[in-house]
Amino acid sequence: MPFSLRPVQDRDAPALNALHASVGWPRRSDAGWRWLLNHTARIEAEAPAGWLLIDETGEPRGYTGNLVQRFWRGDDALYGASGYSIVVQPPARGHSRMLLRAFAEQPGMFARYTFNANPKSSPLFPRHGLNPWPTRTHALKLAWRLDTVTCAAGRLWREVDRRAPQLVDLRHERFLNRRLMDHGPLVLPAGVAVLSDLNDRSQFGDFWNALRSEGRIIAERSPAAIRWRLSDPDRTIEPLVLAFNRGDAITGYAMAMMAKANVIEPPVLEILDLVAFRDEPRAVPALAQALLTNARALGATKVRIQVVNEVLLRQLGPLAASARREGGWGHCHVHFQPGVEGSESWTPTPFDGDYQMCLRPVPLDAAVSERAA
Ligand SMILES: CC(C)(COP(=O)(O)OP(=O)(O)OC[C@H]1O[C@@H](n2cnc3c(N)ncnc32)[C@H](O)[C@@H]1OP(=O)(O)O)[C@@H](O)C(=O)NCCC(=O)NCCS
Repeated sequence: MPFSLRPVQDRDAPALNALHASVGWPRRSDAGWRWLLNHTARIEAEAPAGWLLIDETGEPRGYTGNLVQRFWRGDDALYGASGYSIVVQPPARGHSRMLLRAFAEQPGMFARYTFNANPKSSPLFPRHGLNPWPTRTHALKLAWRLDTVTCAAGRLWREVDRRAPQLVDLRHERFLNRRLMDHGPLVLPAGVAVLSDLNDRSQFGDFWNALRSEGRIIAERSPAAIRWRLSDPDRTIEPLVLAFNRGDAITGYAMAMMAKANVIEPPVLEILDLVAFRDEPRAVPALAQALLTNARALGATKVRIQVVNEVLLRQLGPLAASARREGGWGHCHVHFQPGVEGSESWTPTPFDGDYQMCLRPVPLDAAVSERAA
């Protein structure tokens, strides 16, 4: 048989970087791969960290990552798996089917899903039983443009890249600005504060316990899970974590990271998470407004949330109406394990998917050399 699969290992980091580089995706450091491949929930679930597609000479020709997270339905622990970064090199064309079959057939998951498909990979998932979901928002991303001139310049460069890619100098990082490295204090609306205490016994810990006890299916946001998220060795700018407080208690939180998709894309503040108690209508709009108010001063040209659900749209209210509708192809697909009660109560955000792991951090080393020049 010319092609075979095997689970990915830490020692495959150079092969993973070569595969990523071959399709223009960012590389990770060895420490970054170890962080991503050895998440405790995956180890606990005894699931592979992903699969490598190997040709008859032993060369890696394709890959898909397998991001396993712990989910809760009240006190019941479940596991969910998100497939990410599927790549198949031209000599193995068509063999995404082997990778996706391995992903879609793995046992022990209440849901197998991907929330970050691009138009090329989107049609592949239904062939493996992953169907568009959430039903009404699987193709929707919301974006708020803050600096229309820079956004327009970014679109122009994208067009140049499409028509005459030789004109794009891959060594020249465009649209960096000094606010990315150096900004004043945040301007936060009443009730919103930067979340700095992520100890197990903290107000955030109480928030997580209360959120979990609402009984909906939800990916784990325990202090430990957030600490892991914030410890990505390849981060350049610390993600922004904000809490909404009612009296002494946290009733909602948001997490966002600055990303720059490639050398010709402007920086975007990507909302990675935005959740609140069901009986707290003020938290989501206040947190989203806080991100919008501060994003420009932090160096972003727009704010975006790439996975939305209907509850979130309702909670955002007029802010959702003021956003541009991006996306348009089905980037979210799920296969639910039959018989798992309450699956439809899951209201996913980008936190459930691979965004934090796959977004390209702003290359600050390039920003530093640009500033020095
Ligand atoms: C997206 C990607 C992984 C798809 O890889 P692939 O397996 O070569 O799949 P292709 O879409 O090129 O399909 C090749 C052929 O196999 C067929 N095929 C793929 N999966 C199939 C399946 N499960 N059953 C039947 N046919 C299948 C396709 O229909 C296509 O045939 P066609 O040319 O007659 O239409 C690959 O193009 C890639 O690495 N792209 C760059 C990275 C990327 O964008 N990844 C997606 C990130 S979300």
